[in-house]
Amino acid sequence: MNIEVQLNGRTVQWDIEPGETLLHALRRQGLFAAKRGCETGDCGSCTVLLQGQPINTCVVAAARIRGRQVTTLEGLREDPLMLKLQTALVDSASVQCGYCTPGMLITLYALLQEGGQPDEEAIRHALSGNLCRCTGYVKPVEAVAGLVAELGGRS
Ligand code: FES
Repeated sequence: MNIEVQLNGRTVQWDIEPGETLLHALRRQGLFAAKRGCETGDCGSCTVLLQGQPINTCVVAAARIRGRQVTTLEGLREDPLMLKLQTALVDSASVQCGYCTPGMLITLYALLQEGGQPDEEAIRHALSGNLCRCTGYVKPVEAVAGLVAELGGRS
């Protein structure tokens, strides 16, 4: 099946396999930032933005995204807010094994894109769908809270 998708700001034609997940389709396109983790929609390592909202690509049928906007971490590599987020996580030693980091970045980016000044509880709530086995969330949450304070509500 051929579908048209807005992928990272470009219109692309995808040849989708029957039953293929969005995660599989992305990785077949050479986009590997979304990681293959639990494949049951629980760990968040495969998170991308669909119409600006974070979703777990391992449980979304690729055929269902026809005509929709998909943004992966690769598409945000020059985005100023994403660069600040990446710097905040790296500088705070929030990246340990790093497997969760791409999904976590996408989730946090969506949170900060909403504007406002999310507090620690809101940051933890946002990250509740991104499983991290290494950090205990303390450093990532502190790093994002620090970035929120630095941004002063603008993002
Ligand atoms: Fe290892 Fe999060 S840094 S799972």
